[in-house]
Amino acid sequence: MMILKTNEQVEMMRQSALLVSKTLSEIAKHLKAGVTTLSIDKMIGQFVRDHHAVPSFLNYRGYRFNSCISVNDVVVHGLPTQNELKEGDIVSIDIGVILNGWHGDHAYTFAIGDPGEDVMKLIHETKVSLYKGIEKAVAGNRVGDIAFAIQEHTEKKHGYGVVRELVGHGLGKNMHEDPQVPNYGKRGSGPKMKEGLVLAIEPMINLGKKEVFTEEDGWTVRTKDGKPSVHFEHDVCIRKGKADILSDYSFIEQAEAANQNLFTYHILQPAG
Ligand code: MF3
Ligand code: CO
Repeated sequence: MMILKTNEQVEMMRQSALLVSKTLSEIAKHLKAGVTTLSIDKMIGQFVRDHHAVPSFLNYRGYRFNSCISVNDVVVHGLPTQNELKEGDIVSIDIGVILNGWHGDHAYTFAIGDPGEDVMKLIHETKVSLYKGIEKAVAGNRVGDIAFAIQEHTEKKHGYGVVRELVGHGLGKNMHEDPQVPNYGKRGSGPKMKEGLVLAIEPMINLGKKEVFTEEDGWTVRTKDGKPSVHFEHDVCIRKGKADILSDYSFIEQAEAANQNLFTYHILQPAG
C-alpha cells in the first residue's frame, strides 16, 4: 500500500533528507587516503546525533553500524572496517536518519584520488541516470517509467550492468514503504505514482556485468566479476509536472570540489 504524504509531512521529510545531505557534505571534507571507513561511520553517528536525529540503519535487522560504506567492487551494504581508504578507491556512503519521526535515506559515491577515466565516467553516468529517473517521477507516470529511464541510460547507452537484486523504495515513517523502485524495467509498467508519494530512487550500476553476490556476513553485496560499482540515491516527492528532490547534492558537491583529495568528473571541452 502506498502511503501519500501531506505537504506538511513532506516538509518534515525534506528536513530529514537535508540532514543526510549535510552529513554527507561534512564527511566529504574529511575523505582522503588513510582514513578508515569505521572512523567515517563514527563521524556520521556523531553528526546525526548532534543534529537531534538518530541513524536509522543502526539496529535495522541487526545491522551494527550508522551507515553503509561500500568500497570499489562492493555494490551496497558495505560494513565499516578498520581498513584505510587508498588512492584510487571509490567509496559509496549511504546514510539513513530519523528526524522527528521521518526518515531520510540517501547516498553518494566519491573518488579518493584518481580511479581512472572509465571509473570516473561510471560515477558521472550513474549520477546522470539518477536525474533521468527523477525526471519521470511525476504524478500520473508509473514506477516503470523511472526504471526504464535509468536502464536506458546506463545499460543501453553505456553498456554498464544494472543490479537487479536491489531496488529503491517508498520512504516515510518507515525506511522501506511501497512501492519498490527497480532500476530496470518496462516503460508504462508498475504502480501509478500519485502526488505526495515519496521515493528513494537509487541506481546501483556496475562497470562490468550486472551479477552480484552477498558475502557470508549477510550484508556486503559485491560484483561477481570484481569490477567497481557506483551507487547514488536521492529522496524525491512526486508532484504534478515536476519531481521535488528533497535531498540536496549541492552541499556535497561543493565540499567534494573543495577537497583536493577527491576527484570530480569534468567533461573536457575540445580546445578552440
Ligand atoms: N539505504 C539502504 C536501503 O535503502 C540501506 C538499508 S540497509 C541497513 O535499503 F541495514 F543498513 F539499514
Ligand atoms: Co534506500
